[in-house]
Amino acid sequence: MEELIEEARKRVLGSKRLVALTGAGISAESGVPTFRGKGGIWQRYKVTDLATPHAFAKDPRLVWEFYNWRRDLISKVTYNPAHKALVDLEKIVPHFALITQNIDDLHRKAGSKNLIELHGNIWWVKCSKCDYKAKDKRVPIPFPPICPKCGGMLRPDVVWFGEFLDMDTLNMAVSEVEKADTILVVGTSAVVQPAASLIGIGKKSGAFLIEVNLEPTEATPIFDISIRGRAGEILPRFI
Ligand code: APR
Repeated sequence: MEELIEEARKRVLGSKRLVALTGAGISAESGVPTFRGKGGIWQRYKVTDLATPHAFAKDPRLVWEFYNWRRDLISKVTYNPAHKALVDLEKIVPHFALITQNIDDLHRKAGSKNLIELHGNIWWVKCSKCDYKAKDKRVPIPFPPICPKCGGMLRPDVVWFGEFLDMDTLNMAVSEVEKADTILVVGTSAVVQPAASLIGIGKKSGAFLIEVNLEPTEATPIFDISIRGRAGEILPRFI
């Protein structure tokens, strides 16, 4: 394992265009539950009841209870050494881009600048009817949250299952992985699309792929280096 970490460290520090792709696992050590590991959110709740447009149409109060629970939890945690290590790498490497699937805002809190949030951000709300969008840090958001512009129901500004990602955001992410010489993938099970496909796109464009995860993932076979361990312990060793 030591030599793997050393080789990954050399690759990361020698990179001219480094892209990091993160998932829930990078925030696990901050106390934010993941989705599919043991104790994961989708082990306890049915995603179809909580994170789909249909669920919101059927029972907006339940969906807001779920997001208020997540907002309350996330408001009480902070970034961990893994988030911080990516901030340090952004200062060292000539070109760095951070693509995250997480909505917990912990990368921004840690100080990451060139940040692409594929699935939105838990501190933003948007109207389910008009184009109104706003940052809203109230915990909890009182129900029903009404759009000040049109009177429609406000919803979390996050991407739910069955919804498309913002095309500009996705295109930015694709362009970054296509130009990367090294891609560091941390704490994602690599099963949710289109985020997971960014790994294959990077590989096809010739990037060196490094994975950091507690366990093997579906994408592990295509990685040049796959390191088993906690992100909060491994990433600081790259600096
Ligand atoms: N260090 C490194 N990896 C970890 C750690 C840790 N401390 N803890 C957990 N992991 C790994 C798990 O082994 C798993 O592979 O993080 C991964 C978390 O996977 P998921 O829970 O599936 O989270 P993620 O891949 O981000 O899910 C993608 O699914 O539910 C949707 O929109 C949601 O963005 C999310 C998307």
